[in-house]
Amino acid sequence: MICHINNSSKNLSILRYPGGKQRFIQNFSHLFPHNLNDIQYYVEPFLGGGAVFFHLNPKRAVLSDINSELIDLYQGIRKDPKVVWKLYCSYPDNKDGYYEIRNMNPEDLHLLERAARILYLNRTCFKGMWRYNTNGEFNVGYGGQDRRWVIDQKDLIDVAKRLKKADLKCSDFNAIIDESVDGDFLFLDPPYCPGQKEQLNEHYRYGIFAYPDQKRLANALKRATKRGVQWVMTNSSHPDIVKLYKKNRMFQPDIGTGSNPGQLSTNPGEVIIFSIKEEMF
Ligand SMILES: C[S@@+](CC[C@H](N)C(=O)[O-])C[C@H]1O[C@@H](n2cnc3c(N)ncnc32)[C@H](O)[C@@H]1O
Repeated sequence: MICHINNSSKNLSILRYPGGKQRFIQNFSHLFPHNLNDIQYYVEPFLGGGAVFFHLNPKRAVLSDINSELIDLYQGIRKDPKVVWKLYCSYPDNKDGYYEIRNMNPEDLHLLERAARILYLNRTCFKGMWRYNTNGEFNVGYGGQDRRWVIDQKDLIDVAKRLKKADLKCSDFNAIIDESVDGDFLFLDPPYCPGQKEQLNEHYRYGIFAYPDQKRLANALKRATKRGVQWVMTNSSHPDIVKLYKKNRMFQPDIGTGSNPGQLSTNPGEVIIFSIKEEMF
């Protein structure tokens, strides 16, 4: 069964995002409620590039991420996509220029400048990584201009339109999940259990999402389930994580195809876990 998606299904994520879920939503849209108009709020506590939100285009949403520069970016685009685009276009197209923009102090900039700067850094840095040093400064090296003009002003205007229906927050996931109520639907895409290398590199702003965070997440979802909240989550199929969701339905996707609910192979990879009522499938 395919869920009813409002409007076009064009990929509207304007960011390069490690772990972005463009492919997931194309293959697994049937895991989402049939009719998004029946839910109160669509809630995404680990927003990132927002591939799933932009694809589904729900009528009301709460979108959140712990990365304040990311939320500033969306707030800036929502406020004035044309000015953000103009600033983005005005930035340099060479390595030295990239480092000049990177060295700007975001605190000296207004919202639209902060949005344009981080969009520029994301589209021209190495592999679209989000990494910060211990002073909280973006420190990814230059990647080139190849991915810069893949987006255009119209993309920013479309993104702004969709964001107008959303409440944007910068928060740890726990508070966002605890605010959800019966009738809401949550999509969760937390950072996967990082390997040692990723932990050292800190892929995301607060890069280390460790096992205690996974436990906090499982507990918050347990509370939400008790309140009647429905949710779908992608996560690592690491046995320690799977153990946290013993009572939930889950399956391990295998290059676009899922095995039977509740059956996991020993392959490392992803698992999709959900609390959705049977009748929704
Ligand atoms: C895997 S990414 C989400 C990718 C997104 N689904 C997409 O399509 O681009 C995980 C996100 O969780 C955010 N994050 C990390 N720790 C968090 C926390 N404690 N609370 C909320 N968000 C967090 C990161 O900043 C990152 O944007």
